[in-house]
Amino acid sequence: MKIINSIVHMQALAIAPERDGRKIAFVPTMGFLHEGHASLLREGRKRADVLVLSIFVNPIQFGKNEDLDRYPKDMERDCQIAEACGVDIVFIPTAAEMYPSGFQTGVTVREISLPLCGASRPGHFDGVATVVAKLFNIVRPDLALFGTKDYQQLAVIRRMTADLNMPVEIVGMPIVREADGVAMSSRNAYLSPHERQSALCLIQALRRARELFAGGERSIAVLMKEARAVVMQEAAAVIDYIEFRDGATLQELDVADDSTLLALAVKIGQTRLIDNTVLGEVL
Ligand code: PAJ
Repeated sequence: MKIINSIVHMQALAIAPERDGRKIAFVPTMGFLHEGHASLLREGRKRADVLVLSIFVNPIQFGKNEDLDRYPKDMERDCQIAEACGVDIVFIPTAAEMYPSGFQTGVTVREISLPLCGASRPGHFDGVATVVAKLFNIVRPDLALFGTKDYQQLAVIRRMTADLNMPVEIVGMPIVREADGVAMSSRNAYLSPHERQSALCLIQALRRARELFAGGERSIAVLMKEARAVVMQEAAAVIDYIEFRDGATLQELDVADDSTLLALAVKIGQTRLIDNTVLGEVL
């Protein structure tokens, strides 16, 4: 497994497989890897000849008062996980390498970036789209894998790739959960044991809405009231948003169907957690 820090070196390594027709699969991450990331890596390993992982805590997708400076890191462990998943190349650039002085270009994906996390984290998806566009130009992948854990992020990336005719197939992968249902996240490392218990309210809210939907309830007003009530029962939880949206366009709805997305962001202490489900899909 090669570890590469320089952009030109990474670009040079991507040219050989391109020339002799070998496929490159790419998994962009911010590191502190867990089973969710590993599931993307394993799928990428199956689908391509060369598997590239990037680890880069992208400063431009964090807001002023967010957790950029304390984002968890463990490069040694990340490299062990990468090796075990069959990664060929780990690309770990510095912020100075990615954003040298004079950098002034950004990618904005308009409507689909506005609601949900885009409303609570202004500029976040510009930062994500910009770094992913840069990474695609550096790694030159045939396919790139993203988790539906970040449902809106995946929608933004799909939109950008289509709109800008990027020759990359985008593969969406299911949410990997802990045994108790809490979605895996690098940010779960911030939770105290008591907060980790409180974090169960996210999956409980999703389960409650799914249960009502499976029982025939289609009114979003009713589903919303029930889902909110579940989170509000948890004293340590502060709702950032709970929303039902069209799973493809992320537009607002009054009536739910199989493709309706229920997405939520909840603060447990200082930690903001997100989760989601599509009502007609298996959890
Ligand atoms: P990060 O949060 O490290 O996530 C990297 C990838 O892993 C994303 O595609 C994310 O959706 C996926 N992932 C995270 N938790 C998951 C889980 N429990 N199940 C399945 N997939 C999961 O998302 C980012 O980094 C960044 O925004 C990035 C795309 C790298 C751009 O900076």
